[in-house]
Amino acid sequence: MGAVITCVSDMRALALRRLPRMVFDYVDGGSWAESTLRANTQAFESVRFRQRVCRDVSARTTQTTLLNSPAQIPAAISPTGMLGLLHPEGELAVARAAAAFGIPYSLSIASSHSLEAVRAASNGELWMQLSVLKDTAFMQGLIERARTQRCAALILTLDFHVAAPRHRDARNGLGLPPRPRPAALLNLLCKPRWLWRMRRRAPLFGNIMGHARGVSDMPSFLNWYKGQFELNLGWHHVEWVKRHWRGALIVKGILEPDDARRAFDAGADAVSVSNQGGRQLDGAPSALEVLPEIVAAAGSRRPVFLDGGIRAGQDILKALGLGARGVLLGRAPLYGLGACGERGVRAVLDILRDEIDLTLAMCGCPDASGFSRRNLRTEPPFAGLHT
Ligand SMILES: Cc1cc2nc3c(=O)[nH]c(=O)nc-3n(C[C@H](O)[C@H](O)[C@H](O)COP(=O)(O)O)c2cc1C
Repeated sequence: MGAVITCVSDMRALALRRLPRMVFDYVDGGSWAESTLRANTQAFESVRFRQRVCRDVSARTTQTTLLNSPAQIPAAISPTGMLGLLHPEGELAVARAAAAFGIPYSLSIASSHSLEAVRAASNGELWMQLSVLKDTAFMQGLIERARTQRCAALILTLDFHVAAPRHRDARNGLGLPPRPRPAALLNLLCKPRWLWRMRRRAPLFGNIMGHARGVSDMPSFLNWYKGQFELNLGWHHVEWVKRHWRGALIVKGILEPDDARRAFDAGADAVSVSNQGGRQLDGAPSALEVLPEIVAAAGSRRPVFLDGGIRAGQDILKALGLGARGVLLGRAPLYGLGACGERGVRAVLDILRDEIDLTLAMCGCPDASGFSRRNLRTEPPFAGLHT
């Protein structure tokens, strides 16, 4: 790896050095003023652990179960599109790292490599993400493919029916189709490691090209993509997906308790509290701050995940303490992929596991699945200091 990597922010710094600015910004950036992107990470800083001493923490475990499957840490990898921009192995590399480590990998509908290629590369637990599209034949086909490829769950993303502007991408000329600016092109030339890697090109939208009717190349893809997202969305779409899939269904993009209740009523087995990592509605609350109300609305038996802002093992435990059953990791493994490919993803996962393990020891709680509100200080800081 060359550089000393002690934490996820070191990996982010290495990705910044090694990736073209346009690609780094695609991963790192958020929508509009990026206030929700910042809020996601800042929210974790205001939560405090309870340090406990004189407890037996000699036998510790970071393991848990997510949707009835064992996981080495309370996390799965969140769906993220177009990873072939970061590395030619893209989703294949991340899926392999997740399988070797022992957590589920979620494949985006907008992935570079196809579901079939990812399954051929990895025998680990796979979750497949989809969105509500007007091409219902394609959706039905994708659900069937997820069944054939032994996906353990579907993730239905509900907060990407319109795309928020991401100013960094616009400035770099990264759009559909991409029109890189001269400065962005010049910057590409300064990244020899990435250029050398990319002599092998990853496929484009492998889940869609050759699968959606009439879509075989970029022009036909752009034609299909235009107006493909369903704007007249209703809970009956969730029911429709559940009826066709019949297996475990996670609804992603929930920020309101009432929406969580409706998602469960429509057939969700779990929800993910999410603002797409600050890439959609800028000004929406951080995922962490609304987590407790959503957990309360879900009730104790229905699992709630959180995604947004997880950059350390401590963040994962804080989410658990506030009621999440587990988290979905977005950018953290992508910094690893961008910096060092599959090895980088694995290094990020190892860092997160070690951070969880040591934090459990310091909190006097030997078992990650027993980590709860009792392990956090939830009263306002310094209350009563001046009385
Ligand atoms: C580069 C990138 C691409 C993404 N693509 C998708 C996607 O295709 N589908 C989806 O549901 N979410 C997508 N997301 C959102 C993530 O699944 C997740 O909600 C978010 O990254 C979590 O925030 P974090 O990055 O702060 O951990 C993407 C996020 C990033 C950073």
